[in-house]
Amino acid sequence: MKESRADASAALRDILKDHFLVGAALNDNQIAGKDPGAVAIVRRHFNTITPENILKWEEVHPKPDRFDFCAPDQFVGLGAWQGLFVVGHTLVWHNQNPRWLFEGARGDPELLFSRMREHIHTVVGRYRGRVRGWDVVNEAFEDDGTWRKTPWYTTLGEEFVARAFEFAREADPDAELYYNDYNLWKPAKRAAVVRLVTSLHARGIRVDGIGEQGHWLLEEPTLHQIEATIVDLAKTGAKVMITELDIDPLPRPEELVGADVGKHIELTPELDPHAEGVPEDVQRKMAQRYADVFSLFVKHRAVSRVTLWGVTDADSWLNHWPVPGRTNHPLLWDRLGQPKPAFHAVVEALTRTASAGA
Ligand code: XIL
Repeated sequence: MKESRADASAALRDILKDHFLVGAALNDNQIAGKDPGAVAIVRRHFNTITPENILKWEEVHPKPDRFDFCAPDQFVGLGAWQGLFVVGHTLVWHNQNPRWLFEGARGDPELLFSRMREHIHTVVGRYRGRVRGWDVVNEAFEDDGTWRKTPWYTTLGEEFVARAFEFAREADPDAELYYNDYNLWKPAKRAAVVRLVTSLHARGIRVDGIGEQGHWLLEEPTLHQIEATIVDLAKTGAKVMITELDIDPLPRPEELVGADVGKHIELTPELDPHAEGVPEDVQRKMAQRYADVFSLFVKHRAVSRVTLWGVTDADSWLNHWPVPGRTNHPLLWDRLGQPKPAFHAVVEALTRTASAGA
């Protein structure tokens, strides 16, 4: 695919300004100012940022009486300086927690609720008015729509979700509050989330947005499944967000479709076919896939934000998951920070849509 002059100067945030916010997750290095190349891409192309790890419980609240706000302060400062919509990720999840969080709490729901309240009040309260949206609860359901049997659920029951949203609302009444999960294109899981959000709304507990993470493959989910997801989630009245978009072109065992970070498989050469570079046909398929999904997103007013899970291929968590040590190529900028054919295809598709609509 040839790079035209117009493509080279196009910024995603400008092309998408009438549709939705567009952003990326930032890693520790980028937040610490050690990767100016990636930050330059962010400044040019994005108007929202999410921290990949630094606001997870084990990082921001490693000891019962110790919060570490150094990196989060830098992250929120970067957002303010650049005028970006800052998203917080994530308050209540079953991964990347410190061991002490669930210690002594198994048979003691009040203890766990009080830990949850203190954490949410302290973290959300500190960034009140500056972190504009929070992933309050992450990944509460299994793919079959049953509740995931995490320590949150087994100790507190379904009520843990409502309480998390209430604590966050108390801490910042003006922040947008989200439920976030992967594989919502699977009907049973999506139905469970729609039921949950509808029942919270009926109780007067507002969920402002639902995030489908969007850790997708080249051919799965289908565009039809993605569209059905957007349409169904929007029926709750909540905004719809694609919160962690990446498209993985590498082989993936069927049972690992999605983003269960607890699962790993061993590296073999067959699982790492593009270590020396991406063949042209794969680049083309990636370009088509990215153009297709962005063209779909702009069709739906309910989509209010799309965030890529990383800036360049070099940063992507998919180099380490589900197979540690692979060379992956799931984003719009390559390992050298150059825009890929997929980037140009997105720009071209959106420019075409815009001129067709004008
Ligand atoms: C991932 C990060 O990208 C990795 O750096 C980390 O080692 C594990 O977590 N769903 C989520 C994200 O909600 O927080 C996960 O991020 C990816 C899956």
